[in-house]
Amino acid sequence: MLDKINQYAAEIAAIQPQNKVALEDFRITYLSKKGLISTLFENFKAVPNDQKKAIGGELNKLKQAAEAKLALLQEMLSNQGDDLKDDHFDYSLPTIPHQIGTRHPLWLVKNRIIEIFERMGFSIATGPEIEDDWHNFSALNFAENHPAREMQDTFFVNLNPDIALRTHTSSVQVRTMETQKPPIRILSPGRVFRNEAITARAHCFFHQIEGLYINENVSVKDLKQTLLYFAQEFFGKKTNIRMRPSYFPFTEPSVEVDISCQICGGKGCNVCKHSGWVEIMGAGMVDPNVLENCGIDSKKYTGFAFGMGIERITMLKYQIKDLRLFSENDVRFLRQFQHI
Ligand code: DAH
Repeated sequence: MLDKINQYAAEIAAIQPQNKVALEDFRITYLSKKGLISTLFENFKAVPNDQKKAIGGELNKLKQAAEAKLALLQEMLSNQGDDLKDDHFDYSLPTIPHQIGTRHPLWLVKNRIIEIFERMGFSIATGPEIEDDWHNFSALNFAENHPAREMQDTFFVNLNPDIALRTHTSSVQVRTMETQKPPIRILSPGRVFRNEAITARAHCFFHQIEGLYINENVSVKDLKQTLLYFAQEFFGKKTNIRMRPSYFPFTEPSVEVDISCQICGGKGCNVCKHSGWVEIMGAGMVDPNVLENCGIDSKKYTGFAFGMGIERITMLKYQIKDLRLFSENDVRFLRQFQHI
């Protein structure tokens, strides 16, 4: 019996349960009612009387050692959670910050513009960035020898000169009028491409938003009021607009639209080149030829169209001086627009 006592004492001294489950195993093995130590106490009854004192003393020591070890280990492991309930992790600790990306200013401005026109009933239309001559030029009344078709402006596809990267979103006007019946009221945001050297003021790709409204009895009045509403919603209530005569093949009459200068309020400064006005877009009444090219009866319907550069509008509103900043993806630039 003494051998067993010594053996268990050595085992108990050596045992190191790493978690609460192993500790419970230890308790059941040695200290439960049917455990090894209880069994020794059972067997103790058969120990000859003259040995009872010595062995009894050792047995009691073993039991105390086992109980002390159990208590100590319970204390040590009480901080370790086997489930979330006694998990002492502090969930209010700050996390390791993850740097997430930022919304691009062009994306934010595009959505702001869309939101304003949606209030007037415009919906979104899209078209392909790789376009054919008909949709980008011919249907829009560009004469065969119009300079915009020449190589310096347009990226043509080598294998097929009938295919090009679209130079403007006006191509979506054509696609929409070919497939929808008036009344038509669409806005078409998208990327456009021009064969230009990249500078602070020009890029080989940029973004435009095209607008088109076709219905019976649409007049220049409707165009002007629509654009005035847009300008005042986007640039501020005090903004004024003016239209200057211009030329585009697909509109007649054609205009360029200016807003009163945001910097000097119209008094004249460097930004508006001391004129008090800054150009924001091209617009006009859709040329009857364009309506007919797209299968719309030009005797019954009239309409207006406009097109603006999203980069240009963004640069004006936030006084950004270099177009290249939009495509460099420098987060120090992009982060400044998080709260607009
Ligand atoms: N497509 C023209 C450009 O890229 C912009 C434009 C002007 C669009 C007049 C229009 C418009 O719809 O009526 O310069």
